[in-house]
Amino acid sequence: MVVDEGVRALFNPRSIAVIGASRHPGKIGYMILKNILDYGYKGRVYPVNPKADEILGLKAYKRVSEIPDEVDMAVIVVPEKYVLEVAEDAGRKGVKVLVVITSGFAEVGNVEAEEKLVEIARKYGMRVLGPNIFGIAYTPINLNATFGPRDLLKGPIAFISQSGALGIALMGWTIMEEIGVSAIVSMGNMSDIDVVDAAEYLADDPNTKVITIYLEGLKPGTGRRFVEKMRSITRRKPVIVIKAGRSRRGAMAAASHTGSLAGSDQLYSAAFKQSGVLRAYTTDDMFDWARVFATQPLPGGEETIIITNGGGVGVLATDTAEEHSVKLLDPSPGLKEKFRETMPWFGSPKNPVDLTGQAVEENYAKALEVAFESDEIHNIVILYCRTAILDPRSLADTIVEVVKKYGNSKPVVVGMVGGIDTYEAMRKLNQNGIPAYFGAERAVAALAALIKYYRYISKKHG
Ligand code: COA
Repeated sequence: MVVDEGVRALFNPRSIAVIGASRHPGKIGYMILKNILDYGYKGRVYPVNPKADEILGLKAYKRVSEIPDEVDMAVIVVPEKYVLEVAEDAGRKGVKVLVVITSGFAEVGNVEAEEKLVEIARKYGMRVLGPNIFGIAYTPINLNATFGPRDLLKGPIAFISQSGALGIALMGWTIMEEIGVSAIVSMGNMSDIDVVDAAEYLADDPNTKVITIYLEGLKPGTGRRFVEKMRSITRRKPVIVIKAGRSRRGAMAAASHTGSLAGSDQLYSAAFKQSGVLRAYTTDDMFDWARVFATQPLPGGEETIIITNGGGVGVLATDTAEEHSVKLLDPSPGLKEKFRETMPWFGSPKNPVDLTGQAVEENYAKALEVAFESDEIHNIVILYCRTAILDPRSLADTIVEVVKKYGNSKPVVVGMVGGIDTYEAMRKLNQNGIPAYFGAERAVAALAALIKYYRYISKKHG
């Protein structure tokens, strides 16, 4: 696929100008420049501000056209009334992509200025991200051109957001939740570069395994393009979309937020279905699923086993499995025999495999080994309820060890219930690339998304 120069420059700029880089620490133009420098971007950076000689130790230029170097990306952080003028200057300079942070365009009815901005960009062959955005981050090259938190945990999940505040908030949240990101792209008004352009680039990005999108609405007339392009993207990578503005009032809120048409929810549902996009209904779901795609292999089949120390969570997991069309294996007599050897005599070798409340690390390790070695099993769900005899952190170490021994050959998800030490155990698992969730239901639902994608991919390629 031929990649547009402007889109490439958005994710891999060799040099960046910050137009409206401010001398004052409280301002957005200061924060963006600081984030670019502090997060470790290795390319050349040029602050542009007619009133300053130097900002954050860098020589400042009065205008972009004065910079004695090529400029790939220009981040624009000047008030709306100056945007067109600086965009024109950037165009003359040969900038490839404009990242327009400034608000006050189509989202407030100022459609004319937005159209002018795009017109200027077209005239000079530039692409535009925004306006009305918090910026872009691409962690493989230590690029954080946003006014969100400076630090980002690196990983394979890309997040494209039509909401600014939510995007910024989730940047901090990803660190807390041990979710590593490759890219965070704020879409704003989507005057030019839209979710499809960004997803298309990321579909071929070796640093991204799964693409997540917070969508409020597509631009009128772009529905067919969305379906066609996404159909090809989802064959290469899983795409999870959360679509806001489902309700009538929600749709009205979306219209005044980014100026987009929320449209009928049925239409979006149909478009997502046709394009193979996985639709999440909550942000929790979106990132729960993304975590599985980021770390687990695609399964070799549908048969799933649940291994638990608690009957109750086993039943909850079974219900969720049925609701999400996760096929629970009926183990053969031979396999049941093998599971029986991993548990006390009063346990159950059926599915869920109940190791009982008496289970310790060894029981889990043995049952997990049986599951990895059996050809009957394709997917493994491990459940744990806090008991006095098994410390969850120690169980986490055991699970990591066994999964490593089998080289991540089958998808594994973990659901745990308990207190703070259980939370610590889940962190440990997540840090080691094993998706762990609070509760059986979330673990099974996340696995269900992986299996759904597996089904989709098998159908397309099979
Ligand atoms: N070229 C370069 N720099 C210029 C300039 C020009 N033509 N004209 C002014 N500047 C400088 C200013 O001197 C100032 O620097 P200083 O603080 O060192 O003096 C800097 O650019 C910023 O200008 P200022 O007038 O102070 O604007 P601001 O910082 O108050 O607001 C925006 C600018 C873009 C942040 C504001 O207009 C805006 O749109 N805010 C909303 C952003 C947002 O929320 N986006 C969506 C997020 S999801």
